[in-house]
Amino acid sequence: MNARWIIEPLGKTHNRAAFSCGVPALDDYLQRRASQDAKRRVAAPFMLIEAGGEAVCGYYTLSQMAVEIEDLPEDIAKKLPKYPMAPVTLLGRLAVDVRFRGQGLGEYLLMDALRRSWTLSREIAAMAVLVDAKDEDAASFYESYDFRRLPGRRNRLFLPMAMLDRLFAEGG
Ligand SMILES: CC(C)(COP(=O)(O)OP(=O)(O)OC[C@H]1O[C@@H](n2cnc3c(N)ncnc32)[C@H](O)[C@@H]1OP(=O)(O)O)[C@@H](O)C(=O)NCCC(=O)NCCS
Repeated sequence: MNARWIIEPLGKTHNRAAFSCGVPALDDYLQRRASQDAKRRVAAPFMLIEAGGEAVCGYYTLSQMAVEIEDLPEDIAKKLPKYPMAPVTLLGRLAVDVRFRGQGLGEYLLMDALRRSWTLSREIAAMAVLVDAKDEDAASFYESYDFRRLPGRRNRLFLPMAMLDRLFAEGG
């Protein structure tokens, strides 16, 4: 997988024009807003390309945000200090072009996003990765990777950063 596919920050050479993931809002975001968001530092977009290619085959975005601790499930909240808010990393968008579906690239992008979030959380704290799933299908994609739904926010899911320790700490 690694030799063929590269994930790198959005740059000028990336060709986003033909990207199509079947969700117009996610295509439109990549084509019209991603570079502005990157320039303004409100989201960091990462592109999946084939080695030697320029066409974007998939992408995700990361940002820092905060959640109200009382919105977290009780078993998580009770282990946190009595602050009103807790820092998290938002995996705002994640999509794979329809031409490349079902080859493990969604998982490859997700693992890259989680590893990057986990690595950076040791320098700028974040206690979980949060996602906003656009529908039930997307939510079940994330649930299959152990994301849990926030109570009362069915489309917002999170994965405690501590769970990623087990996955990545030993060089996994
Ligand atoms: C969700 C998405 C990123 C998956 O991409 P993909 O490259 O086809 O996924 P993969 O091939 O890596 O599949 C990984 C696993 O997730 C499962 N999966 C894929 N799409 C799924 C979905 N929509 N719902 C539930 N599970 C899904 C696959 O069956 C696979 O599991 P398996 O290994 O047990 O077979 C892709 O369908 C997509 O871009 N959808 C439109 C945008 C979207 O919904 N984004 C989600 C965030 S809003």
